[in-house]
Amino acid sequence: MDYARCGRSGLLLPRISLGLWHNFGDGDDPATMRAVLARAFDAGVTHFDLANNYGPGPGAAERNFGEILRGVLRGHRDEIVVSTKAGHEMWPGPYGDWGSRKSLVASLDQSLRRMGLDYVDIFYHHRPDPGTPLEETMGALSDLVRQGKALYVGISKYSAADTRRAAAILKANGTPLLVHQFRYSMLSRASEGDRLLDVLEEVGAGSVTFSPLAQGLLTARYLKGVPPDSRAAKNAFLKADSITPALRAKLNRLNDFAASRGFALPELALRWNLRDPRLTSVLVGASRVSQLEENLRALDRPPLSPADCDAIDAILADGGVDMV
Ligand SMILES: NC(=O)c1ccc[n+]([C@@H]2O[C@H](COP(=O)([O-])OP(=O)(O)OC[C@H]3O[C@@H](n4cnc5c(N)ncnc54)[C@H](OP(=O)(O)O)[C@@H]3O)[C@@H](O)[C@H]2O)c1
Repeated sequence: MDYARCGRSGLLLPRISLGLWHNFGDGDDPATMRAVLARAFDAGVTHFDLANNYGPGPGAAERNFGEILRGVLRGHRDEIVVSTKAGHEMWPGPYGDWGSRKSLVASLDQSLRRMGLDYVDIFYHHRPDPGTPLEETMGALSDLVRQGKALYVGISKYSAADTRRAAAILKANGTPLLVHQFRYSMLSRASEGDRLLDVLEEVGAGSVTFSPLAQGLLTARYLKGVPPDSRAAKNAFLKADSITPALRAKLNRLNDFAASRGFALPELALRWNLRDPRLTSVLVGASRVSQLEENLRALDRPPLSPADCDAIDAILADGGVDMV
């Protein structure tokens, strides 16, 4: 595994990290969960990403992860970076959502209980809250670090401008912004227009991208249709009807290009994501060990050349929208 320094901090993160948004909920197979986490750890994936609401049901991923930490990963806590988040709807009423001090403090206490941990390594505010002063949200994050419940703090899905403001408040509080987590893939490039990586470099924060495979679109999964055991077949976070014929044609062209360069499509997508050295880690999901292993092989592939990136841009630009 390659590790990269997370911004101007002392923390190294693996270039590929594993997220537990899907595949670790109630109803998912415990043996597969254990096998995926054990394989990831054996391969040097030392960073596991959670959130209070990951499931289904909400909290289930943290509970299942805690069990596996006490099981197959027992004794390895100090070799593992655990991140969790609060900021999306988690429990009923006005305090189980967004970014008040009330909500963040209660949520992290719940997360620690569910996972059976004394502290998490990274605690994120999961999404910007237009209704709460940023000073309050960042103040709560800083206080949780001072209380020893989190070692570092992060933010997720903040604009570049709000990131700059958040980083300044955190710096004044004495708890620097460690990391920003945002969606980024060949099919989701909004952060480029916002110049987010420039701002992260300026404030000394690292970057973790989520859904780098566009929830599985940038793999062989949907090249011919929607398999019944796929995320799109569940029609929740990835809608089957968003995979239009035009999008499928584009995915097939990307797959052909990948094959012409000796890459599998997810290897190409992850190498493409990591082409900017300022990017600390890409956060993949996997519903089975074989997917994780295929994704990890991206790190054995050579970096993409500027000509490769131009060819990919040409395929993405051709035929218009279809971005997700
Ligand atoms: N901060 C935020 O707001 C936020 C939002 C979203 C995600 N995240 C984080 O980012 C993590 C990753 O997100 P994601 O799960 O959307 O990432 P992703 O890597 O883009 O998609 C993962 C899904 O793609 C499929 N897949 C992965 N590798 C494959 C392969 N080699 N071949 C075929 N199919 C493959 C699997 O779905 P199937 O079920 O079809 O097999 C897998 O569950 C999450 O777990 C979470 O930690 C954070």
